Amino acid sequence: MSAALERLGRRFARFVTTSVVAWPGLWRLLRRPLLSQFQRLAPVWDQRRGPETLIPLGAALDRLDTPPQRIVDLGTGTGAAARVVARRFPEATVVGVDLAPRMVEEARALLPGDLAGRVRYEVGDASSLGVDPGAFDLVVLLNMIPFFEELTRVTAPGGTVIFAFSSGPETPIYVPTEKLRERLEPLGFAGFEEVAAGPGTAVLARRLEP
Ligand SMILES: C[S@@+](CC[C@H](N)C(=O)[O-])C[C@H]1O[C@@H](n2cnc3c(N)ncnc32)[C@H](O)[C@@H]1O
Repeated sequence: MSAALERLGRRFARFVTTSVVAWPGLWRLLRRPLLSQFQRLAPVWDQRRGPETLIPLGAALDRLDTPPQRIVDLGTGTGAAARVVARRFPEATVVGVDLAPRMVEEARALLPGDLAGRVRYEVGDASSLGVDPGAFDLVVLLNMIPFFEELTRVTAPGGTVIFAFSSGPETPIYVPTEKLRERLEPLGFAGFEEVAAGPGTAVLARRLEP
C-alpha cells in the first residue's frame, strides 16, 4: 500500500472515531466503509504491529485490583490484546470481537493451541454485541472506537473498562481522556486512572456497583 493511501486511511479512521463518539447514529453510515478498510488491512495487520503497541495495555492491566474472569476485547483485529489478557489471567475466558471477518480469520490462525480452550474470536459489532447485560468483568479496547452505551451494558457492576491507545494521541483511533470521562461518568463509571507507558497511553474506568 502506498504511503499516501495509508495516510488517508489513518485520517479516515480518525474521522470515523471523532464522528461516532460525537454522534453515535452516524455509525450506520460509516460502518461499511470502515469495514472495507479493515478487511483490506487484515492480511498485513499483525506483521505491522510490534510488541511496543501492547505496552500501554500491559501497564493498565497492572492496575487491576482483582483478576477478571470474563473478558472481552472489542475491535480485537488480529487478536493480540485478547492473547495478552489471556496470558495475564490464566483463569479467565476471553472473547475477541471484530467487525471484519478477515481480521477474525487471522486472529484464529494466530491463536496458540494452549489458549484455544479459553480464548475465542467472533465476528460482531461492538455497537450491539448480543450478549447478556453485565456479561464481562473486563472490557478491553485497544485502538478501538468506543460505543459507550453498549460497553456500559455489557460491563458487570464493579467491572473495569480499559481504553488503550498504542501511540497515545497520535493513534488514528484515539479519544482524549476528558472525553472518555465526560461520556462515562453519566453512565455510572468512576475511579478513572490514566496511564502513560512506552509510546502510548491508557485509561481505566470502573463501573460503579448499583
Ligand atoms: C485500529 S484496529 C485495532 C485492532 C487491534 N485492537 C489492535 O490494536 O491491533 C481497529 C479494529 O476494530 C475493528 N472495529 C471497528 N469498528 C468495530 C465495531 N463496531 N465492532 C467491532 N470491531 C470493530 C476493525 O475491524 C479493526 O480490526
